[in-house]
Amino acid sequence: MRNFQEEIGADGKRKSNTSAGFIAQKLGIDDNRMFQGLVGVFAVSAIVIGLLLVAFTSGSGAGPAGSKQPKAIIVIVPGLNPVVLESALNSNKAANLAGLVTSGAAYGRIASNATDPTAALVSLLSGTAASYHNVSSSSALGAFQSSAATSFLRYLNEASLKTTLIASANFYSGSTYNTSGQCSTVGTLDAECAGIACPSDATSAYCNSATRVIVNNDDTALMSTIISNAFSTAAPGNSLVTIVVDAFSSLRALDDNSLRALSATALLDGVVGQLVLAAEQRSYKADENWLVTLVGDGVNSAQQAPLFVIPVSAGSVIRAKSINTATGNIVDIFPTIASWFNLPTTSSFVVGSVQGICGDGRTVSTC
Ligand SMILES: *[C@@H]1O[C@H](CO)[C@@H](O)[C@H](O)[C@H]1NC(C)=O
Ligand SMILES: *[C@@H]1O[C@H](CO)[C@@H](O)[C@H](O)[C@H]1NC(C)=O
Ligand SMILES: *[C@@H]1O[C@H](CO)[C@@H](O)[C@H](O)[C@H]1NC(C)=O
Repeated sequence: MRNFQEEIGADGKRKSNTSAGFIAQKLGIDDNRMFQGLVGVFAVSAIVIGLLLVAFTSGSGAGPAGSKQPKAIIVIVPGLNPVVLESALNSNKAANLAGLVTSGAAYGRIASNATDPTAALVSLLSGTAASYHNVSSSSALGAFQSSAATSFLRYLNEASLKTTLIASANFYSGSTYNTSGQCSTVGTLDAECAGIACPSDATSAYCNSATRVIVNNDDTALMSTIISNAFSTAAPGNSLVTIVVDAFSSLRALDDNSLRALSATALLDGVVGQLVLAAEQRSYKADENWLVTLVGDGVNSAQQAPLFVIPVSAGSVIRAKSINTATGNIVDIFPTIASWFNLPTTSSFVVGSVQGICGDGRTVSTC
């Protein structure tokens, strides 16, 4: 298995590699084979504990009296089909997620008006309808830079909150120019900063994240990288960890009986379980409240995305507000994150509404 990963700071310089590749190699997970995948999840659990302990030793300072620091992890899974996910939930293939719902996490399907994956991802990031941002697979992705749409990464950055972005290489731009002098591959995640310029020559590239982590397009490598990086890299210094998992974009059309889809779901379930466990421990040891969100993009036959909202405080999951499945839409992610960080959620461009939480992340109570 080929693995690479690079982590690049705001100054554009490479940082040291982590052991993610090593872990992925050790696991040898193949998402076509569910049995091996499940074994892999358990193997990860043992390794993760060491990583988390390292992360937890450097706690961040307390906020104003009576309040805690809001922190969040959002896991965006393009192609995650709610039909497949619910089938896994109902047949014991997603035991972590099922248990989280029992503990108080909110789950529901939300709509997506976009039928194009690029348009859907930009809507999810920016809280705007596709007809507003006009970015799609067929349009030049540079449109994201010129449109009035703003991603929540930029929104938090402008509010001086640091974010980390972890995603596979195909969501980022390449580094070679084509014959027109433009970047030959433009990635959705940096188009807002760099337009159609190649990142190596665009000082504004990756302008919205303090740290970006690039992993290869091998979905199983990304799964293990998520676990090893999310907290050790991000928990102490960053407010938001955004993870874009590319394990399901080729599974959009598969039905709930597909072994491939169920196998990938089981892996994802293990990853989210570990992230929530880490958030619980972090919220117990540091003055922090965590919001863990898992969401699809709704580009599938159901045109709906699964949404989990999992608030974590004082060492455990607390009861979330029910997802409004009647009006819920992927554009709700932006105002939900903004609300958690106590930033204004109403602006001329954000069309969604807050989902799953009852107040901001400084003082959290059960809904
Ligand atoms: C999605 O489409 C419905 C029906 O056309 C519309 O009422 C709603 O405003 C749209 N939402 C977004 C976010 O585009
Ligand atoms: C998107 O397209 C519509 C219709 O062509 C246009 O009115 C709108 O200004 C465009 N938005 C942006 C941000 O370019
Ligand atoms: C170069 O890349 C840009 C952006 O992806 C694209 O719009 C343009 O058509 C490409 N030009 C050629 C000659 O391939």
